[in-house]
Amino acid sequence: METILITGGAGFIGSHLTRLFVNKYPNYKIVNLDALTYAGNLNNLRDIENAPNYQFVKGDITDMEFVKNLFATHHFSGVLHCAAESHVDRSIADPLAFVRTNVIGTVSLLQAAKEHWKENMEGKLFYHISTDEVYGSLGDEGFFTEETAYDPRSPYSASKASSDHFVRAYHHTYHLPVKISNCSNNYGPFHFPEKLIPLCIHNIINKKPLPIYGKGENVRDWLFVEDHVRAIDTIYHKGKIGETYNIGGHNEWTNIALVKELCHQMDQKLGREAGESEQLITYVKDRAGHDLRYAIDATKLKEELGWMPSLQFEEGLSKTIDWYLNNSEWLANVTSGDYQKYYTSLYGA
Ligand code: NAD
Ligand code: TYD
Repeated sequence: METILITGGAGFIGSHLTRLFVNKYPNYKIVNLDALTYAGNLNNLRDIENAPNYQFVKGDITDMEFVKNLFATHHFSGVLHCAAESHVDRSIADPLAFVRTNVIGTVSLLQAAKEHWKENMEGKLFYHISTDEVYGSLGDEGFFTEETAYDPRSPYSASKASSDHFVRAYHHTYHLPVKISNCSNNYGPFHFPEKLIPLCIHNIINKKPLPIYGKGENVRDWLFVEDHVRAIDTIYHKGKIGETYNIGGHNEWTNIALVKELCHQMDQKLGREAGESEQLITYVKDRAGHDLRYAIDATKLKEELGWMPSLQFEEGLSKTIDWYLNNSEWLANVTSGDYQKYYTSLYGA
């Protein structure tokens, strides 16, 4: 039986990835290493927590001795590295936290993998999950390809770009078998309500203002999280060592159009009058250094490995809203306590 380490498996994308691997591959043992920061939540994994091929370990990826000992105990043959500080607004407030987890944490994992695998790298794989934000910001036209030069512009994207560089450096210098994927904005169940979509769903439910940064004209390319983890599965098993793959849904929305679509769907689902939730839209001060547009060209992934997104956005959004409406306890849990302090510090009341 192969043992695979997933880092950050209690977070948003990590929990979907852990669920997919635990259920789809009973012959893999999955060890989920997560520090359970504000973004990590074991309630995201209740349905698989007793699976015989699953184990949770609480720990910090920046603690290299701990990570090395974990490799010595479990003899991982693969690593799926999801753990990160992931929110741009938090990175503006506290960049060093992002350097610590995203850069030092990644290098600590790379170092442990290199040392543990040094006698035989055959059949081993370090898969680094990254973001399209490393490519910077687009104007009105064009797409990010795997050849686009890195141009990160927020502390978050700079820390992710740095981690990508270290992953490639370990491949070129030490022949560590690596793969990287850079994905566009995800949405779906278990998304922490600091990010645009779940924050607005939460606020619409509670009839609170919907904060739109600047004029709402910034564009993001949205992908349903289950499509992202299916792409990771495909790349993990069929992608080429040393390669990078872009993942995206060809699904661009301005923030204002997206929030209006959300309001429209939620008015119907909540039995409110058409147009009622749109009244909550409030334009607020723009994010510092706000990237205008992200858009992914995922041709390589489609042509070489046959991956395609499965859901239309309106359908994915509808599924996502239904999930939040049916999981009010989950939402209440994650928005109690420290969330209130975070919300007030960023948005005021
Ligand atoms: P998230 O913030 O929801 O989850 C991050 C997880 O990492 C949490 O469970 C947290 O507890 C854990 N973690 C944080 N610091 C840790 C540490 N020092 N040691 C161990 N665990 C730690 O993030 P997400 O949105 O699920 O993103 C996962 C990965 O995917 C990140 O690397 C992110 O850069 C990348 N990504 C995210 C998106 C997106 O739209 N959310 C898009 C593309 C790529
Ligand atoms: P976010 O979900 O934070 O993802 P990212 O910044 O990584 O793309 O934000 C998505 C877009 O929504 C981005 O252009 C910023 C904008 N936004 C708002 O307008 N208001 C908000 O309250 C938040 C959280 C984001």
